[in-house]
Amino acid sequence: AALPADHPLTDGRTARSPLVRAAQGDRPAIPPVWFMRQAGRSLPEYRESRAGTEMLDACLDPALAAEITLQPVRRHRVDAAVFFSDIVVPVLLAGVGVKIVPGRGPVLDEPVRTASDVLNLRPIDPAALDPIREAVRIVVAELGSTPLVGFGGAPYTLASYLVEGGPSKEQLRTRALMRTDPRTWATLLNWCADVTGAFLRAQVEAGASVVQLFDSWAGSLSRSDYQRRVSPHSRRAFDALRGLDVPRIHFGLGMGEMLDLLPGIGADVVGIDWRLPLDVANERLGGRVPLQGNIDPALLQAPWPVLAAHIEDVIDRGAAAPAHIVNLGHGVPPETDPTVLTRIVEFVHA
Ligand code: CP3
Repeated sequence: AALPADHPLTDGRTARSPLVRAAQGDRPAIPPVWFMRQAGRSLPEYRESRAGTEMLDACLDPALAAEITLQPVRRHRVDAAVFFSDIVVPVLLAGVGVKIVPGRGPVLDEPVRTASDVLNLRPIDPAALDPIREAVRIVVAELGSTPLVGFGGAPYTLASYLVEGGPSKEQLRTRALMRTDPRTWATLLNWCADVTGAFLRAQVEAGASVVQLFDSWAGSLSRSDYQRRVSPHSRRAFDALRGLDVPRIHFGLGMGEMLDLLPGIGADVVGIDWRLPLDVANERLGGRVPLQGNIDPALLQAPWPVLAAHIEDVIDRGAAAPAHIVNLGHGVPPETDPTVLTRIVEFVHA
């Protein structure tokens, strides 16, 4: 398998875009900037488009998902679109009952906790991903030279939603299962890797130029648990892209003690949260890996001079790395004033 001839990376539309160049280790004259969770509740046009539609129904409506994906690109002039969807969409498409409860997050109809629960998980039917492919095609046709970032949830983060049945701060049941029943754990994480892998692959085949794997909860793990019991499965998710040569970003929260393990799972770029200065992250990665991040989302509500000084510091520290994609250190908080995001893009580009 290879990228189709009409893929934006193959036909030249996005191959020289600032985001793709930076992800390949280059420093374009204008630094690329985009925001995790740039599509969503901070935008009034999003709230209007979504009104009356459940989150996961919106994700499976190709025209609506495409429109929402494009909104922040039109408004902020960011250097990338990020596909409007959710990490649990492929879980749903594999037949597992899940809803997104506003203000809370994904909630399972039935948690997946026992060996027999795990053995009942079915693989995803490739045809179930058709609405995803269709939405990506609509987006990419509109984007021109702006790349689309496709994404998926990393196996640990997905497994924690399945086992806990919903969002959980410490994932106690999940980590207990990991150490109690290693075979069931490995089967569960492989299933998660395969559904996320199929989701990533569908987005790339339909035209995404870059992918990002989100491991929002891996920061709860010890380094050795991550290394031995989780990272091989994250590698398996990336390996689903074999033959499709697109840059791969890994983003995790609180992973400062394990950053050096991430290139080994197949990440080309490492996303850093707001806790760790980029120059320190760069040292931990041996000065060899492009970085993404890490404006503190809290400062989006600070007075502009405070935020601007912070962004300058982020860019200065990022200069130590081989390349830098400017982003937040986590997603845009829903209460963010969107004019602040537009101003950040202008500031970074200036
Ligand atoms: O703009 C983008 O970044 C693309 C879209 C995107 C969504 N979810 C849309 C969404 C992405 C990349 C995600 C990833 C995601 N989803 C993660 C990993 C990133 C992270 O933030 O750590 C996680 C853990 C989830 C699970 C999830 N889905 C949560 C915790 C929530 C928030 C619940 C809430 O109401 O606060 C969701 C819902 C969700 N996913 C929304 C959006 C726009 C909000 C839905 C709404 O409008 O009510």
